[in-house]
Amino acid sequence: MRTVRTVSELRAALNAPRRAQQTIALVPTMGALHDGHRALMRHAATLCDVVVVSLFVNPTQFAPGEDLDAYPRHEPRDAEIAAETGVDLLFAPATAEVYPDGFATTVTVAGELTDVLEGVSRGAEHFAAVTTVVLKLLNIVDPEIAVFGQKDAQQAAVVRRMVRDLDVAVRVEVCPTVRDGDGLALSSRNAYMSESERERALALKRALEAAEREVAGGERDAGHVAACARGEMSRLGVEPEYVELVDPQTMRPLSTLNGEALLALAARVGRTRLIDNTLLRTASSKTDSTPS
Ligand code: PAJ
Repeated sequence: MRTVRTVSELRAALNAPRRAQQTIALVPTMGALHDGHRALMRHAATLCDVVVVSLFVNPTQFAPGEDLDAYPRHEPRDAEIAAETGVDLLFAPATAEVYPDGFATTVTVAGELTDVLEGVSRGAEHFAAVTTVVLKLLNIVDPEIAVFGQKDAQQAAVVRRMVRDLDVAVRVEVCPTVRDGDGLALSSRNAYMSESERERALALKRALEAAEREVAGGERDAGHVAACARGEMSRLGVEPEYVELVDPQTMRPLSTLNGEALLALAARVGRTRLIDNTLLRTASSKTDSTPS
């Protein structure tokens, strides 16, 4: 595996494979790689000949007061993990390479996709910063496939919308959330937590499970399902920031479960902000053709 730091080096490194008609996959990351990132890399490797991983802690997507300075940075370890996982190129640019002097362009997916959930909690600028950097990475690498994680379900939906709206010639693949044995969704931010916080953080997964049980038991009222998840978190000593049932594609809030629903939640455990989600599937009254 080669580590490259500039756009021109990366493009040069991709010239030969492209000429040889090899397909290219991009996995954008902010590093502090874990098994969730690894799953994306492995999936990318099953789909394409060449896997490029970007490692860039994008400063613009952190709001003032967020954890930009504390964000874990372990490039040597990340490089080892990427190499072991079959990555061909690690693109680890400096901030000035991504945002040269005079940088003045922002790509915004406006409206309901970005003004709910994380868009409320982290501010509308968060997703604009994500789509701007992701479009830059797509333009730099020009991959056939880009791989994202369902852990950040809203981010994946926003990226899909940008790709569709701007006719970016890439297929977006979204991989399931990878969890620790006890159910906690892997996140680079888990490293911030003490052992006791790590225990309390399980409240997020428990809340998702409580909601899944309600739905399996026949509950279809989104308010009730969300209240049940919220109650479970509070019971386990974690105050939710939001718990919402939304349409998985549009992020529009749902009042009734009918088809697919995304239950998304966020909470702070100590100083660590965590998010998690689950897809709840119910037979849609419009499309259900299952014989009784
Ligand atoms: P980062 O948080 O490093 O995540 C990189 C990718 O890994 C994202 O697509 C994310 O959804 C996925 N991911 C994280 N945890 C996961 C888990 N437990 N299971 C499966 N996938 C997981 O998301 C970002 O970086 C940035 O916003 C980025 C897209 C790189 C733009 O800066």
